[in-house]
This record gives sequence, C-alpha cells and structure tokens, in this order.
Amino acid sequence: MMPEPRPSARELLAFYLEAGVDCALMDEPVNRLVDAPESVRAAPPQPILSPPVLAQPAATPRAAPVAPPAAALPPDAAIVSAREAARAAPSLQALRELLAAFDGCALKMTATQLVFADGNPQARIMLVGEAPGREEDIEGLPFVGRSGKLLDRMLAAIGLDRSTVYIANVIPWRPPGNRTPTPQETQTCLPFIQRQIELVDPDILVTLGNPSTQTLLSTREGIMKTRGRWIDYDTGSRSIRALPTFHPAYLLRSPSYKRMAWQDLRAIATALGALPPRST
Ligand code: URA
Repeated sequence: MMPEPRPSARELLAFYLEAGVDCALMDEPVNRLVDAPESVRAAPPQPILSPPVLAQPAATPRAAPVAPPAAALPPDAAIVSAREAARAAPSLQALRELLAAFDGCALKMTATQLVFADGNPQARIMLVGEAPGREEDIEGLPFVGRSGKLLDRMLAAIGLDRSTVYIANVIPWRPPGNRTPTPQETQTCLPFIQRQIELVDPDILVTLGNPSTQTLLSTREGIMKTRGRWIDYDTGSRSIRALPTFHPAYLLRSPSYKRMAWQDLRAIATALGALPPRST
C-alpha cells in the first residue's frame, strides 16, 4: 500500500484551527516524543495495576523549558482562595485588580487579557454571559463580537445601551478555542462574578443562556424552561429579580427564537418601568 502523503504545514494549521486550537502557548514547538528523557523512552511497559513508576529527570534537560502548570493551586484550594479574594474586595476596581492578580484559574494563562466588564456600574440592570470569545479577548470587553452586536440591537429595542446597562461574564478569561469552560473553571470564577453582582447591586439581573443561568441561579433546568421566568437572586445583601433569556449567540444560530427573546425583553422593559428611579 502506498503511504499517505504527509500533510502540508497549511493543512496541519487548518486541522488545528478546526479542532479549536487557535493560540500558541509557547514561542517554540516542543516535540514531547523526541525530547522525552532517556529514562521515559526506555521505560518498559508496566503491568496495568502496578503503582506508577515515576521517571527520573534527565541529568541535563533536553527539552525546551515547559511553563509550570497554569493553575498553581490545587482545585479545592483555588475555589477557597477565590472566595476569600472576592469577599475581600470592597469595590469593583479592587475586585478587578484582585481578579487580574488571581492565579487559581488556568484560563488566565492562555487568554490575552482579563475581560472584566463593560457598561455603567450604576445601572439598574446587569447582564451576565458565559465567557469571552475571540473578539472580547482581543478588546478586553465583553460582548463586542457578533453576538455582542446582536445584544446591542436587542437592548436598543427597549431603549437601553451600554450607558444604561452593566455587562459581565461568569468566566472573565477566554477559554482557548472558545471551548466550554470546565466545571472546575466555572466554580473557581463563580465567587468573583457573585461579588461583582453584589457590588453593582442592580435591581434586575439578566442571565444570558444556559451556562450563565444554571451557574448563577443554581438550577439544572434548561434555558427552554427557565427563560422568561422571574427567579429570586440573593446578592448576599438583598434579594433581586433575575430573568434568564437566550444567549445572543444562540439567537444567531436559531433566529426563530428571537420572538421569545423579544417577549423577555418586553418583560425586562416593563419591570424597569415599574421600578422607582434609582437613588444615588
Ligand atoms: N459570549 C459570551 O457569553 N460572552 C461574551 O463576552 C461574548 C460572547
């Protein structure tokens, strides 16, 4: 049989992009097969149930230095440390700085920058999405890509814009290749967004899409059931009303649900209209 022709560099890059690999972690590639220390390559196969044999480090390292594990803390410690850090933040600015200095979530290592929030911290309405995408990662602001443009149009339809709303995400760093954040990453970031909501202290919280709704409102029900239903949300200081609705990225893929999203927007407008003006 004829061997398959080797893929070109362009084909390989296209394959990586399609698989969601769209950023480099290091300047130089590391071939871990070629560069494995002698002791690892020569190790005989181990019986399946025997305790793992740890390879000794080679006397002189042959591989390029590998970055240390991104999240320096073990998983539980990362969540505890996130809770303590978030609780200690007396203001949004302090919270942003604490988050920027927080090393307990590995996503920070692959993201370009922290995507903290956009909009007016005095707003009576706060919207929370899942995690930044590519454009947000580049600009450092939430919802600036395609779905953000749709969100702006949805808000404009009820007379709102970024000067009258506050927008953030559950996860403040872009997951590589826009993959779904892991439960560990979500739990580690959760105390920060909870504190952010408490500090903004909106009257209305809008959760955009399933992940944000399930995480913030502690429900396992899907967005088809939860959307359009007001749910009480305890900020830690008081109880406010939260409304789940579809994520704009979902509406871009499934425009027929825009009709239901419009109902949710009208419910938000009505609720805002029924609220007394915000005292400062
Ligand atoms: N999707 C989100 O959930 N958040 C963003 O900021 C952008 C896209």
